[in-house]
Amino acid sequence: MRTDKRKIVLVGTGMVGMSYAYSLLNQGVCDELVLIDINRKRAEGEAMDLNHGLAFSASHMKIYTGEYKDCSDADIVVICAGVAQKSGETRLDLLKRNAAVFQSIVRPVTESGFNGVFLVATNPVDIMTRITYSLSGFNPKRVIGSGTTLDTARLRYLLGDSLRVDPRNVHAYVMGEHGDSEFVPWSQAMIATKPILSLCEEEGVVCRGELERIEDEVRGAAYRIIEAKQATYYGIGMALTRITRAILGDENSVFTVSAMLKGEYGQSDVYAGVPCIINKNGIQRIISLSLTDDEMKQFQHSCDTFGKVLKAFYK
Ligand code: 2OP
Repeated sequence: MRTDKRKIVLVGTGMVGMSYAYSLLNQGVCDELVLIDINRKRAEGEAMDLNHGLAFSASHMKIYTGEYKDCSDADIVVICAGVAQKSGETRLDLLKRNAAVFQSIVRPVTESGFNGVFLVATNPVDIMTRITYSLSGFNPKRVIGSGTTLDTARLRYLLGDSLRVDPRNVHAYVMGEHGDSEFVPWSQAMIATKPILSLCEEEGVVCRGELERIEDEVRGAAYRIIEAKQATYYGIGMALTRITRAILGDENSVFTVSAMLKGEYGQSDVYAGVPCIINKNGIQRIISLSLTDDEMKQFQHSCDTFGKVLKAFYK
């Protein structure tokens, strides 16, 4: 039974999970954080390390290592457990190993009586969120993946840098798979309320080739980071924190999370990154953008890409 205390359970205390936890603490997002990991000793060490920093933060968070029964009154269960991609691997390559991990996580959470929101970050995140939905039997609006939220932030950062505009005034999305088939529906991209594509007609502002370069840079960002430092974790940890704040704060803010589509964009029974309104109940509503025919084809290709992998996995 949920109470007015803002309680998060984090499953998986690897680099992504702990970057998320560190970000939660420093932003004072919740009142209680429970750490669960198959390596309990590691989770205990992480809890101790964070608790020793509390004196330096404005947060009063209660942080401890717990069990699945501690999910019963949690608002959100965040799953970061599983293996991360290594140099040369795609996110889809991780499916078999991480699906096995999820078999041992999702049921114990639901058996605790948890009735909050699942937030999944483990890759391939669209498929792992679909697996969480299937294993939990929850209303799909309460089973969310980080989706292309981080990719959208990468896009806004790069567009802001190229156009010398604060990224908060760049309204553009990355949609589809959080992976190689993700794409930018440029017909929907704006600076303030001015379409970015109309800027391409204005001399010297930006050209279509620069937009394509930026889109490629977003799609390949994780590979470059992994090449340089073996993993990515700060960006996704902060993206998870921002989604968490929208849920706990009942914000009705928009993020391109991985959501279950039931007819939107011509897709059904598929999880993909689309702009959604997020509040205390998870997904309040999926926003259906008016994509061009070519953009709809890109979305279809993206859903087909991980749809094929999912079908092969369940065969
Ligand atoms: C990222 O995009 C690897 O999915 C992770 O940073």
